[in-house]
Amino acid sequence: MAEREMPELTVEELIEVKRDWNKHSAAELKRIVDLFVSGEMADYQMAAWLMAAYINGLDERETVYLTDAMAHSGLTIDLSSIPGVKVDKHSTGGVGDKTTLVLAPLVASCGVPVAKMSGRGLGHTGGTLDKLESIPGFRVEMEPAAFIAQVREIGVAVIAQSPRICPADKKMYALRDVTATVPSIPLIVSSIISKKVAGGADAIVLDVKVGSGAFMKTERDAILLARALEDTGRALGREVVTVMTDMDQPLGCAVGNALEVREAIDTLRGEGPTDLYEECLLLGSKMLVLAQVADDEADGRARLAEAISSGRALECFRRWVAAQGGDPRVADDPSLLPSAPFTREVTAGSDGWVAQYDAEGVGRAAMLLGAGRATLTDVIDPAAGLVLHAKVGDKVSAGDVLATLYSSDEGKLLAGQVRFLGAVGIAPMEVAKRRLVHGEGA
Ligand code: URA
Repeated sequence: MAEREMPELTVEELIEVKRDWNKHSAAELKRIVDLFVSGEMADYQMAAWLMAAYINGLDERETVYLTDAMAHSGLTIDLSSIPGVKVDKHSTGGVGDKTTLVLAPLVASCGVPVAKMSGRGLGHTGGTLDKLESIPGFRVEMEPAAFIAQVREIGVAVIAQSPRICPADKKMYALRDVTATVPSIPLIVSSIISKKVAGGADAIVLDVKVGSGAFMKTERDAILLARALEDTGRALGREVVTVMTDMDQPLGCAVGNALEVREAIDTLRGEGPTDLYEECLLLGSKMLVLAQVADDEADGRARLAEAISSGRALECFRRWVAAQGGDPRVADDPSLLPSAPFTREVTAGSDGWVAQYDAEGVGRAAMLLGAGRATLTDVIDPAAGLVLHAKVGDKVSAGDVLATLYSSDEGKLLAGQVRFLGAVGIAPMEVAKRRLVHGEGA
């Protein structure tokens, strides 16, 4: 269908286009983004447009146009002075997902430059920046020039998404979060891919989470999201590879900032939980192939496993932490990480098998203990969270410890315990362990 030539629609008319099921032209979407970033389109007008887009959808072309306009709504980072293919990874968000903490030093130790920008946690999912900041001294604010210099020098840097990069996404996401418009495939795609394009990645590995703790609750929706992410990324000249992984229980055992750093360090030593180790090898091997460092995924896995067993990955973690002002001794002495003065063990009430975790409920329990924030201004307790002692499919007896809860505020333990118990189900008959990978590629 030919695009209409109506570049000078008013904000109200732009909202009407989507309200009335029409398709936007590239010029209209760029205008919506520009007017919103400049403040000429008010928050309530953008909220109305977002709801119209949520309900009536954006087609493939509109999604590409919106993503492109958002990617160019602020500064873009030029990583071309860093030699090699710059591969980024991104997860659509989950509970206990600390893969970036493992993968950044792991793939860097295999020769792939990692120049990554990450976000903070909001709601039941944690944020990489909050986890990194639980390492004493670790700094996540850095100017683009210093960021690039660090990647050139030691091969890895993970910093806070600058407010000058993709300002459209920052403003739009804040509104989506409070207007029930987050779980829309075109809006998620434009949000994720615009940040990756603006951040300078040549290629991207995307981990699309599926299950109770994810935005996509069903495999069908996850496949649609994965396909849209690949199509939009490729339309904007980026190689995109997707993997769909389970979020019907937390990834690994630890949920909460310093607790997750500790588990990431264990994994870099080869002593972490199996599902986390497997997921890091899966995503990491795809990163190595995209970066043309490995011939194929089997070769990639072998290189990653060797980097862990030889200690090279952990040594890269030490250098990375030191370069960003953190105390590298945490790699060898995790007791230097913040630790909670108050703990409580939550036990199974009956014999049986762990049948299910409501991953979102587990994330909310960690939040109640102090590990997360309900609003962007809440202060996080870096030591708070929980560690699971049993995962889905594990046999337990009445009185066995299901999880240990941690908090710096004793008063929060009860609320965390009640929420946690509401999120776990024990069945009297044997339950199969959960599949980690639901699919690869779209
Ligand atoms: N992650 C993002 O960065 N954006 C979304 O819209 C959803 C998940």
